[in-house]
Amino acid sequence: MNYPLTGYHHITACAGGAQEDVNFFTNVLGLRMAKQTVLMDGKIPIYHLYYSNAKLEPGSVMTTFPYSRKQGRQGSGQVQATAFTVRKGSLPFWKDHLKRHGVQQEAAQERFGQSFIRFKHPSGLQAEVIEDSADAREPWTTPQIAKNEAVHGFHGAVLSVREIGETERFFVDALGFRKTGVDGPYHRFETGTGGPNKTVTLQHEPDRPAGSWTFGAGTHHHIALWGADDNALTEQKAIYEELGYTDASEIKDRFYFHSMYCRCPGGILVESCCNVPGGFLKDETEAELGTKLHLPPWFEDRQDEIMAQLEPIRVPETATAR
Ligand SMILES: [Fe+2]
Repeated sequence: MNYPLTGYHHITACAGGAQEDVNFFTNVLGLRMAKQTVLMDGKIPIYHLYYSNAKLEPGSVMTTFPYSRKQGRQGSGQVQATAFTVRKGSLPFWKDHLKRHGVQQEAAQERFGQSFIRFKHPSGLQAEVIEDSADAREPWTTPQIAKNEAVHGFHGAVLSVREIGETERFFVDALGFRKTGVDGPYHRFETGTGGPNKTVTLQHEPDRPAGSWTFGAGTHHHIALWGADDNALTEQKAIYEELGYTDASEIKDRFYFHSMYCRCPGGILVESCCNVPGGFLKDETEAELGTKLHLPPWFEDRQDEIMAQLEPIRVPETATAR
C-alpha cells in the first residue's frame, strides 16, 4: 500500500515571549525567519511565527505560538523534543555556541548510534541537534553558524508516551512507518527512505504524568506530516476512518497550506498538511519573507485591533533575505 504522507512539514510549539522566541530560533538555532502571521483558530490575537532552512522545505519548518498568557505542563502524550539535523562532527561547535548564548544544555548523548545534544528554549521547550551527514537539505547560515555546522531541517520529533503499543499501530498502520529499532527507552520508526525528516522516535515513559493538550507556554502542540496535495489529505482521512480513527478533523484552510488533524492513541496531535498554490509566497516575495506581519484575508477587518494587541518584535537582519 502506498501511503500519502512522506515526511514532516512542520512542528509546532507554544513558546512564551515572542521576542525571546525569535532570538532563540534565529540567533541560537540559526534558522531563517520564514513568516510572521497569527494563530488562525480562536479570537485572541496570538502570533504564529515560522522558521525554516534556506529553501523553506517541508520538514524544516518550525512554528511557534508565543503564548505567554498561560503556562503549559510538559509530560507524556506530548512531543518531548524536536530534533534538528546537523553534520557529523559539529556537536563540539554546538556545545560552545549554546554556552555562548547562555542556553541550558545537557551533555551529549547517543541514540541509535547517533550523537545529539538536548537543550532548552527560554520557555522550557526542548530541542536537539543530532548528527546525521545524510541530510543534504540546504541550511540557512548566519555570521555565527557556517554551512558546516548549520541546521538542515528536522531529523524528527521525539514523542513521550506511557505505552508503545497503540501509538506504534497508529504510525505503522495509519501512516505507513516501519519500526527500525529499539534503543533503551527509544523506539524508532521511519518512513520512505528513512533517516532525516523521515523518523519518529517514541520515548517510553510509563510513569510520566500526562502533559497538557491545550495551548500553553513551554509545550509542543503538534507535529505535521506532509502530503503532495488535497488528494493526499482526503486519502489520509479515509485511511484513518477505515481503521476506526473517527476523530480525524475536516480539511482546514490554513492559507499557506491545508491541514487535517487526528490525535494519536498516545495523545500526540498529528496533523496532515499539503501545499497550496503559492504557499508561503502568497502574500510576500521571497526577499520579503519573514520581515513583517501578515494576516489571512478573513482577519483583515480586525487588522488594527490585532496589531495593537501583539508585542512588537524585532527580527535580526541575519534571519531574512540579504
Ligand atoms: Fe500545524
